Amino acid sequence: MKNRFMLAPLTNTQSHEDGVLSDEEFRWLTMRARGGFGLTMTCAAHVQAIGKGFPGQLGIWSDDHIEGLSRLAAGIKSHGSLAIVQLHHAGMRSPKELVGGAPVAPSDHHESGARGLSHGEVKQVVEAFIAAAERAEKAGFDGVELHGAHGYLLCQFFSAEVNRRDDEYGGSLANRYQILFEIISGVRLRCREDFMLGVRLSPERFASVLPKPSRWRNGL
Ligand SMILES: Cc1cc2nc3c(=O)[nH]c(=O)nc-3n(C[C@H](O)[C@H](O)[C@H](O)COP(=O)(O)O)c2cc1C
Repeated sequence: MKNRFMLAPLTNTQSHEDGVLSDEEFRWLTMRARGGFGLTMTCAAHVQAIGKGFPGQLGIWSDDHIEGLSRLAAGIKSHGSLAIVQLHHAGMRSPKELVGGAPVAPSDHHESGARGLSHGEVKQVVEAFIAAAERAEKAGFDGVELHGAHGYLLCQFFSAEVNRRDDEYGGSLANRYQILFEIISGVRLRCREDFMLGVRLSPERFASVLPKPSRWRNGL
C-alpha cells in the first residue's frame, strides 16, 4: 500500500437491479482511489441471489458480474490503490420483496420469517463465498473481505441465540465458526497465494444478540 488510508466498505445502492456495476458507482469508487486512498474497498457485494440485502446492491454471485467488476478493479488500481471486494450474504436480513420469498438463516427465525438452511444449503453458501472470491481474483482485485459482522448471515451463524443448529455448524463456539473456517480454507486453496483475505467481525452489539428488526435500518 502506498499509504495506510483505507476506504471502509460503504453500501452505495447504485448497481443495476441484477447486481451489475453501474457507471455511477464506478465513478464514486474510482474517485475515492484518485483521491489518494492506499486501499479502496467496494460496498458489500452479495454472493448468492437470495443473500441480497439492499436494492441496487452490487452482485458477485454470477459470472455475468465479472465484466463490470473487472472494469472497477482496473479503474481503482489505475490510481495506485489496492482494490478489495467485500463479500456478503444478508441471511435473514434480506428483505422478502428483494429475494422473492422467505430469506434464509442458520435456523428457522420467527421474528424475521426466515427459514433455516439445510445441511446441503450451508455447503452451497460456503461454495458461493469461495466462488465469489475466485470471481474477484479473475476480475483483477487484490483480495476480498468476508463480511462476518453487523448481524448478516455469517454473524448469524456465530450467534448462540440465533444459530440453533444441531449439526457441525451449530452448538459449540468452534462449530458456530465452522462455516467461516471452511470459507477461509477454500479461498486459501483456490485463490493465488498472495490474494488478500480479511474478515470483518462485530466485537460488540451484534456479536451475540441480534438487534430487533426495527433497529436494523440504523446499522448497515
Ligand atoms: C452509508 C453507509 C454504508 C455502509 N455500508 C457498509 C458495507 O457495505 N459494509 C460494511 O461492512 N460496513 C458498512 N458500513 C459501515 C462502515 O464501513 C463504517 O464501519 C461505519 O460508517 C463507521 O465508521 P465511521 O465512524 O468512520 O463512519 C456502512 C456505513 C454507512 C454510513
